[in-house]
Amino acid sequence: MTTKELKEKYLNFFQKHDHKLILGSALLPENDPTVLFTTAGMHPLVPYLLGENHPAGKRLTNIQKCIRTGDIDEVGDDWHLTFFEMLGNWSLGDYFKKEAITLSFEFLTKELNIPIDKLAVSCFEGEEANSILQDNESAEIWAGLGLPKGRIAFLGRKDNWWGPAGQTGPCGPDTEMFYWASDEPVPENFDPANDKGWVEIWNDVFMQYNKTADGAYKELAQKNVDTGMGLERTAAVLSGLKSVYDIEPLSTVVLQITSLVPDLELSPELSPILDLTDQAGVEREKSIRIIADHLRAAIFILAEKIEPANVEQGYVLRRLIRRAIRHGQKIGITEDFTPRVAEVVIDKMGGFYKELRLNRDFIIDQLIKEEEKFNTTLEKGLKEFSKLTKDKKISGQDMFKLFTTYGFPYETTIELAQENGLEVDTEEYQKEFAQHQAISRQGASQKFKGGLADDSKETARLHTAAHLMLAALRKVLGDHIYQKGSNITAERLRFDFSHAEKLTDEQKKQVEDLVNQQIVRNLPVSIKEMTVEEAKKEGAMGVFEERYGEKVKVYSLGDFSKEICGGPHAQNTGELGHFKIQKEESSSSGVRRIKAVLE
Ligand code: ALA
Repeated sequence: MTTKELKEKYLNFFQKHDHKLILGSALLPENDPTVLFTTAGMHPLVPYLLGENHPAGKRLTNIQKCIRTGDIDEVGDDWHLTFFEMLGNWSLGDYFKKEAITLSFEFLTKELNIPIDKLAVSCFEGEEANSILQDNESAEIWAGLGLPKGRIAFLGRKDNWWGPAGQTGPCGPDTEMFYWASDEPVPENFDPANDKGWVEIWNDVFMQYNKTADGAYKELAQKNVDTGMGLERTAAVLSGLKSVYDIEPLSTVVLQITSLVPDLELSPELSPILDLTDQAGVEREKSIRIIADHLRAAIFILAEKIEPANVEQGYVLRRLIRRAIRHGQKIGITEDFTPRVAEVVIDKMGGFYKELRLNRDFIIDQLIKEEEKFNTTLEKGLKEFSKLTKDKKISGQDMFKLFTTYGFPYETTIELAQENGLEVDTEEYQKEFAQHQAISRQGASQKFKGGLADDSKETARLHTAAHLMLAALRKVLGDHIYQKGSNITAERLRFDFSHAEKLTDEQKKQVEDLVNQQIVRNLPVSIKEMTVEEAKKEGAMGVFEERYGEKVKVYSLGDFSKEICGGPHAQNTGELGHFKIQKEESSSSGVRRIKAVLE
């Protein structure tokens, strides 16, 4: 089964069961400031999982491109990737466990024709500390569909709990589906630790909790289903292949990289990596896989116009590219190879993901630049590294210096250390790095300070309320409303805006109601950095524009408000409490002033 066929089968099946096809989202999450990348199809759906109405209805399905760096150390084995595509179906307060599991079972056994004997599942074992019971209900539904008891395991939070993807938000227990991908006979009982044979292919999450900032799990009024099937994994196992690198589109990327390795003879019949009986062959295959995965991920990030940098998304991008380059060098691939891999990824995947085609020049250009940059420091860095090898341990400070001075990303130094039998103080490095991130963030927010007296929780909340109020004022009074000034203390907000007449009681009430409605919607607060021009194009409101530097932060409150701003803000509008206008008066000619509080 090709990945294309699997996509079609999946989307057709769920559309046949009344699910509406929706578009996948960008890798840069728009509504979730707590994560760097979209790690699953549920991110863009967070507001709807929390109860907002989705315009397409209560049953949705789609394909989502995802980035996950949590498993980066495992990339290079048969099944792990940092970039992958996920097939998903959702119920937003519509069906729950029974129908979700039945739909999954039907798709696996009837559409994909997987014999029950090759399937196993795991369910949540419960958690006393949070008063969450073992999920016997799901297990019984599986058993009722014909799955033998021995193939149903109960596992803890690490395996059978999903989310929230960031710090707060929707989450819940899940049930995972596994396929027996080995040629050995299928064992009678399911042992999830046997990850050579049992490959996880699908996950049905029962999102019935909202984790709040204080760490509590609150039952959601609306019970949702969020499922995710790994596209490459499932297509590979159904094709009898033994790794995600053997199926299109990755198999072609692997072939291209292999063709760049000097002195490697390719046999048309065999797997391109050839002789895996010797250690060098195994190592080489791993490097080729890491290059394929990392560069594909990097190319998709670049396609969203992110550039390599030393913080946040740009840093992840830089790590991926540089680790790929280092592995290229390890297996003898010479300079300028990253664009040649990019061409293949863009050709193979640019039909479906047009951002790859549209940004082809940018992607290639950035890869060339980053490869050049890294190559100039790599040699010096390697010399510096060899000096450090005298002691058997590399300190966190030295490791950090390798990063700041020679551009060695985290994984590269760790791998070099391993190859040389050295230890590294990763804990100390992480501390240094966290400090570096904090300083650069502080720099950014100092530059764009919005005139807040302090950044306590109270002022952050009032600041978010001020954004809601500006958007509400524009809805009630019209588009002539602009912010003319603001002053926020821990107790109240004072806000000046362009408007000539006194507000009527009715208008004040409308503004209050609109703001309070957005508070109840619990909109996520998200931040994106962009140029002032880009921000304007996106329709962001901006005050005192001449004060801003080149790049600005744009804060979005769900779909309700978008403003250029330096923060700080609450994480969700749900944290604000009740909004009340205390006073409305004239400030100067053509400018009105509102004082408001959160109760
Ligand atoms: N959000 C769930 C996952 O990614 C479906 O596994």
